[in-house]
Amino acid sequence: MGQAATGGMKIPDPYSLPLETLDVSKAALFAADAHGEYFRRLRQEAPIHYCPDSMHGPYWSITTYEDIMAVDTNHADFSSQDNIVIGDAPEDFITPMFIAQDPPIHDDQRKAAQPAVQRPQLIVLEPQIRDHVCDILDNLPDGEFNWVDTVSRELTSRMLATLFDIPQADRYKLTEWSDVATTAEGAGIEDVDAEARQAELMECLQYFATLWGERAQKPPQMDFVSLLAHNPNTKDMMCNPLEFLGNLMLLIVGGNDTTRNSISAGVVQMDRNPAEWAKLKADPSLIPNMVAETIRFQTPLGHMRRTAARDVEFKGHKIREGDRVVMWYVSGNRDEAFWGDPDVYRIDRNEARRHMSFGFGIHRCMGNRVGEMQLRILWEEALKRFDRIEVIGEPERVSSNFVMGYEEVMTRVHRK
Ligand code: HEM
Repeated sequence: MGQAATGGMKIPDPYSLPLETLDVSKAALFAADAHGEYFRRLRQEAPIHYCPDSMHGPYWSITTYEDIMAVDTNHADFSSQDNIVIGDAPEDFITPMFIAQDPPIHDDQRKAAQPAVQRPQLIVLEPQIRDHVCDILDNLPDGEFNWVDTVSRELTSRMLATLFDIPQADRYKLTEWSDVATTAEGAGIEDVDAEARQAELMECLQYFATLWGERAQKPPQMDFVSLLAHNPNTKDMMCNPLEFLGNLMLLIVGGNDTTRNSISAGVVQMDRNPAEWAKLKADPSLIPNMVAETIRFQTPLGHMRRTAARDVEFKGHKIREGDRVVMWYVSGNRDEAFWGDPDVYRIDRNEARRHMSFGFGIHRCMGNRVGEMQLRILWEEALKRFDRIEVIGEPERVSSNFVMGYEEVMTRVHRK
């Protein structure tokens, strides 16, 4: 691999660097789309790798499909308590959330929120999502536009407003808060203004505290806030406002940029792989598998971190209690040993649904069905309307080791 340029910074060839100190947590690697070769080297030469020094401190990298599965399904040894991204949360502003908790708190809180995105409720949500999709696609401009803002961000913010049952007029507040929450130091982004971030999050708390007060007085409904306010295990959550804020952030972020980036990724891959687009047009029944393959290929969340709950002997490596253990889903989804030809985007790939992008074990993505449903409907409606969605120029990627996404994908639609 040659040198990739990113904002003036050169990305070195991973094979030119000493293996012992290889640091795959640098956000610039992902912004430049140069991380693939780094992970390939780790999978081949040190699939369980210890990086002694990084901007987040020392950490273990788990990079193969099989090893990631082993860590993700062993929550007794590999804890989610307090931190699920490589960087530690700031100690002066702890916002507990159930993704960053172990049983029993995790299980109780997850069960309380889950009905909002489970099967019976999906039947209620489907026509609402379809209406939003049709409205967005029918009103696209004729010329060039940024698909990320006009479609991906727009659709996911409408969806979130629906899941929280708040006025659609407030939907952009949700995406704004989600963006603030993910611009955390833990994601490998430097220059974060911590004070401004906290001020925004407190505004979010204020908004939802008012909503909680109203919903708690009314009969239970299927939106997230009502479900939490009425469940016996979560009805006192407002006594710890930062815990309420943490869980709000989880539910907002979880459903937001992951789905947004999967939508944009589909457009990028369809443009880069015209034969796959032709396959999809010829056989729309491939849409669900295309959605799974897109989510595999993109891996919207690049990693999840665990912390060793005790000294663990893991496949010949001594992992000490308290060590950071990073499961790189973005690498497991490109593990040659599991996938054969992982760098090929193929919408009829048989095993696409076995991707790692939703994680495994007790923390497996709670909203996977609703995320997939949004994507499925979007592609069903896009196929009805467009001959081609043309990507213009090179998409601009997010600079983060956690969120694998796009800032900008300039497009033009060719209507039927
Ligand atoms: C957890 C990815 C959509 C809500 C997770 C995890 C991943 C993930 C990797 C952690 C898994 C683990 O630690 O083993 C994704 C992707 C999505 C998506 C790739 C879309 C393509 C959604 C949506 C929602 C959502 C639409 C809700 C509206 C959550 C929640 C958790 C979670 C609440 C925490 C689950 C727990 O700790 O038990 N997601 N997600 N996600 N996701 Fe998603």
